[in-house]
Amino acid sequence: MSDGLEGVVAADTVLSEVDGLAGRLIIRGHDLDELAGRISFEEVTRLLWDGFFDNLPGDLAPALAAARVEVFAEVSALDTGLLDRTPIEGMRALTARLADGDELNVALRLTAAPAVFTAAMVRAQAGEAPVKPDLTLSHAADTLRMLRGAPASAAEVAALDTYLVTVSDHGLNASTFAARVIASTHAGLASAVLGGISALKGPLHGGAPGPIIDMLDGIGTPGNARTWIEAALARGDRLMGFGHRVYRVRDPRADALKAAVRKLAEGSNTMPGRLALAEAVESSVLAILKERKPDRSLQTNVEFYTALLLEALAFPPSAFTCVFATGRVSGWIAHAREQLAGGRLIRPASRYIGPMPKVAA
Ligand code: ACO
Repeated sequence: MSDGLEGVVAADTVLSEVDGLAGRLIIRGHDLDELAGRISFEEVTRLLWDGFFDNLPGDLAPALAAARVEVFAEVSALDTGLLDRTPIEGMRALTARLADGDELNVALRLTAAPAVFTAAMVRAQAGEAPVKPDLTLSHAADTLRMLRGAPASAAEVAALDTYLVTVSDHGLNASTFAARVIASTHAGLASAVLGGISALKGPLHGGAPGPIIDMLDGIGTPGNARTWIEAALARGDRLMGFGHRVYRVRDPRADALKAAVRKLAEGSNTMPGRLALAEAVESSVLAILKERKPDRSLQTNVEFYTALLLEALAFPPSAFTCVFATGRVSGWIAHAREQLAGGRLIRPASRYIGPMPKVAA
């Protein structure tokens, strides 16, 4: 048995390939470098869904914008009970109100949902009214506008598009596997997406970037990095944003996002200082992990520069995992459709290690 199913191949897919030894991510025949910063979220979604739906439009933007307007109706269900929850719990609860099914319109609503519900939840927690979707905007532009109540700059929209494209799909990660297992029972896309959101929420998967901000704030200045990191490791903490099950060299998504953060920092007074702190912390963590775990190559993962990018775009750290879901939902849906098209019910075996019934004398 493989601990944590490491190295086990559980599906054939045309969607993405994660080459952990080469540090390479391929999404439907394209290296991540060819996509991140070059195409929009709608375009990567179109690429991922190609062949998995009949009548898929060439341009998904109008249909996705219409879906944002449709799901906005559910925002009225945000009640005070939900406002005490974390944004991802609130977003998941609203997503659970959407109808299940396997059709394109269901997929579009589920893809629109994380952006619309996250913005509404964050605003409601701040005592602000929700902002209606704008049919004329791209998904990234409208996500930022619905969050802040004001239009975002072209550079900010480009940075969010880069992020959403970068995280849109990534092989059989925990949330995608969860989505595929659910899809394999023919439960429907909403059920698969809800499973994906639930798996993504954990700090070992998509919940890492919020605590990364706590780490940077706790460290404060580069000179404090080593002492802070060693104290965290002495407590038995894991350092969020480092290590990966598959990558044994640098996570290529970390590089794509670092480049996006650098670009965004060009027009900012505050970001260069934050970036310099992050780079100093990254160097210290990598050096310390190398000293402590010389046999295990622990490198920067996607979450580290995600934290900086989403902070710069004014998402509160409590909502970072929701923004991850906003991008990954396209991949979950593509995998669910792929599973439905050719896969059997996923039903592995377990090994019983409990006591046997006593044999009567
Ligand atoms: N900080 C400190 N130690 C670490 C870290 C880390 N970030 N990552 C791994 N290690 C240690 C483990 O404690 C383990 O030590 P041990 O052998 O003494 O128990 C050793 O390195 C090997 O780690 P594994 O647990 O085998 O790594 P695994 O493949 O199971 O886990 C994971 C990968 C969950 C990403 C892990 O590296 C981790 O917890 N990282 C921090 C959380 C994080 O950044 N998550 C986001 C991942 S990216 C994504 O999901 C989108």
